[in-house]
Amino acid sequence: PVLVVDYGAQYAQLIARRVREADVYSEVVPHTYTTQEILAKNPAAIILSGGPSSVYAEGAPKVDPELFDAGVPVFGICYGFQAMAAALGGKVARTGMREYGSTDASAVNGSRSILEGTPEHQNTWMSHGDSVHEAPEGFEVLASTAGAPVAAFANEEKKLYGVQWHPEVKHSAHGQQVLENFLFKGARLDRSWTTGNIVEEQVERIREQIGSSRVICGLSGGVDSAVAAALVQRAVGDQLTCVFVDHGLLREGEAEQVERDFVAATGVNLYVANEQERFLSALAGVTDPETKRKIIGREFIRAFEEAERAIMAEANAAGEPIRFLVQGTLYPDVVESGGGEGAANIKSHHNVGGLPEDMQFELVEPLRLLFKDEVRAVGRELGLPAEIVGRQPFPGPGLGIRIIGEVTKDRLDLLRRADAIARAELTAAGLDEEVWQMPVVLLADVRSVGVQGDGRTYGHPIVLRPVSSEDAMTADWSRLPYDLLARISNRITNEVDGVNRVVLDVTSKPPGTIEWE
Ligand code: XMP
Repeated sequence: PVLVVDYGAQYAQLIARRVREADVYSEVVPHTYTTQEILAKNPAAIILSGGPSSVYAEGAPKVDPELFDAGVPVFGICYGFQAMAAALGGKVARTGMREYGSTDASAVNGSRSILEGTPEHQNTWMSHGDSVHEAPEGFEVLASTAGAPVAAFANEEKKLYGVQWHPEVKHSAHGQQVLENFLFKGARLDRSWTTGNIVEEQVERIREQIGSSRVICGLSGGVDSAVAAALVQRAVGDQLTCVFVDHGLLREGEAEQVERDFVAATGVNLYVANEQERFLSALAGVTDPETKRKIIGREFIRAFEEAERAIMAEANAAGEPIRFLVQGTLYPDVVESGGGEGAANIKSHHNVGGLPEDMQFELVEPLRLLFKDEVRAVGRELGLPAEIVGRQPFPGPGLGIRIIGEVTKDRLDLLRRADAIARAELTAAGLDEEVWQMPVVLLADVRSVGVQGDGRTYGHPIVLRPVSSEDAMTADWSRLPYDLLARISNRITNEVDGVNRVVLDVTSKPPGTIEWE
């Protein structure tokens, strides 16, 4: 792999993604790894990420100079660039001139080496206080900026390179080119991380892990669980049974996509638990958001366990106990849990297929190495329905947390109709890609006066909450075209009985969260 050593900035994962976009496999490792640990992973190349510190700050992570003698090509970025310069005897100094944001970098003696094919003056994204004043011995200066006399350097003989800017962010206009120059011209790697190879490799691994045992998985209707299940199905076929708990809180058409289209595409054994009544009665009279979430989470686990027991009983009777459970864990979760930093519990999220405490399964996690966009590509490669593969994020508790107030059957039906209209219009406008997700929320305890036909109405408002985001940690409200908003509003108020107003949520996150509960 290409190892990205994480110096504590949020950029390490992004760098790994960009490397994979160039069809090269990459992994993130913490900067606490020793040179020995790094080399034990047999890296084809190493990238040192940016980080928040100054190389001279107390406790600032250092780079072991031995790393540069191992014969492995290294690319330092921002902090990684400075740490590399300092480790190899270059001069890093505080100029007093911070460069932050868009900065012009000028090539020295033409665009050479890792800058090949980029303009002599390129727009780069910077974020640094210190800068490299003198390159270490044996290095050539490739570029400079107003605040950084040495903004890029190379030692071709030793295959060591670095840039002061962040080539991984899209604001650096030629960033991907620079990164690919390092990968393909500097480190001379091959493009081998393709979707076809990913599927093949994962199928191999899964077969090895599961052998001839039986395995169970939960389907939520979302992308991750569907792709994980399809991979396992591809690997071990009928040894897999999938459980789909239909809690009645899904959107229009979603249960059918799992029960009909997914099964048709994969041939998976599906066990459907129709639990709409269970969830409705457990939610009766409940309005508090956290209580709703806890009830849905709890009932989900119970329903899943019941289904599991039924399947286990059948498997045990056949003398084939189930030993494995599939989980759709993604690479960012793996990296983040390795980081070990706890995030504040803003909302108690629940994930489908969560491991019941008293059940002893070994986990199969076929998406553990993949980013979301790779998961979608694998899903397409496996022939999954476009509606499932392209699905925007949808919370585990479903429409239960998009009805503000008590959840009832009628309200669910009403919200499902409004949501289906909003989604259809967004798709028709070709904006699915641009919008991260668009919760449609029913304010069930609010009513307002309206007029329709000749009569007064006293109905509920529907809230549209379209947001743009990279990772759902922060978000901004999407500036949807007015005529699209008008169409959605007209159709919902005309076609959905009981709704006489459509309003738009224009709050970013923070301070608002994406969902209303
Ligand atoms: P918030 O509302 O916290 O949502 O800004 C962030 C993202 O997470 C989704 N979400 C959930 N996903 N289980 C999930 O799997 C949950 O309980 C849950 N709650 C919120 C939300 O849709 C958004 O994408």
